[in-house]
Amino acid sequence: MKKLIIGTVTAAILATAGVAADFTLKFSHVVSDNTPKGKAARFFEKRLEELSKGRIDVQVYPSSQLYKDNAVLKALRLNSVQMAAPSFSKFGKIVPQLALFDLPFLFKDINHLHRVQDGEVGEKLKDLVRKKGIVALSFWDNHFKQLSSSKKALIKPEDASGQKFRIMSSKVLEAQFHAVGANPQMMPFSEVYSGLQQGVIDGQENTNSNIFTKKFYEVQKYLTVSNHGYLGYLVVMSKKFWKSLPEDLQKNVIQAMNEATQKERQYADELNTQQFNEIKAYAQKTGKLEIINLSSEQRQAWADKVSTIYPEFYDKKKIGKELIEKTLATK
Ligand code: LMR
Repeated sequence: MKKLIIGTVTAAILATAGVAADFTLKFSHVVSDNTPKGKAARFFEKRLEELSKGRIDVQVYPSSQLYKDNAVLKALRLNSVQMAAPSFSKFGKIVPQLALFDLPFLFKDINHLHRVQDGEVGEKLKDLVRKKGIVALSFWDNHFKQLSSSKKALIKPEDASGQKFRIMSSKVLEAQFHAVGANPQMMPFSEVYSGLQQGVIDGQENTNSNIFTKKFYEVQKYLTVSNHGYLGYLVVMSKKFWKSLPEDLQKNVIQAMNEATQKERQYADELNTQQFNEIKAYAQKTGKLEIINLSSEQRQAWADKVSTIYPEFYDKKKIGKELIEKTLATK
């Protein structure tokens, strides 16, 4: 505690004295500050500045202020930005195998998912990223995704037929929507609200936290609590930046990241619940949004339909049968 206070005080003194830090670390992401990733990025910023006693100045850029979606990975490889936490879909061109996490109905629950991330499968995926010259730090959660539409309530899989859904840049998500006869359209996160508002797309899938903080619910008529797929992130760092840090600062980065990851899982759980309650309150107050809770039979009908896409990704260059089977078998 004492150390922590001294660290904070030192950082504050250095900041007020206008003393430049030895290193500047820009962390770019696309969601709001008030999301699991946004809050954890701020926690990491504060903790690393404390631990490094102000030698690393962390600057967080939320809401696509610096880079949109996958553009950040290109920038990271050039060390134009030092940290990012893109969702797994956005690694498609570099490590397509991360789309494992996009497969619908793959995880029994969040604990199963964490065991996969913390175990052999997670390590294997991080190694694939490392082989591409990117420092893979931690997996961060958002939560399970829900479906929404302005056109028709999504109760049976057939209800999605012919509707245009925004997807992230993921072959798995493309196949998922094709499996129900819908038209998937890849679009950056920052363009989803206007796409829905202007009717360029009819619907979308995202977590309650993203649906709430980006106000997608205001431009949709139906929200189905489907929990059909998972949205999460891999926190990555520029290798050039990492190598430029002396060993003690590398240790500080690891410690701040471990602490931020613990917090992140907690924020993900709390915020998705809180923000769903806000959406429910809006629906009740305005009558402009219908929230649909699926029965277990109805949910199973979606699972049966979309899980048929798994074999399309058995090729190792796509995801690989072994990774999918290991995930399903993780206890
Ligand atoms: C999306 O594009 O929907 C998400 O990846 C946004 C995010 O980072 O949560």
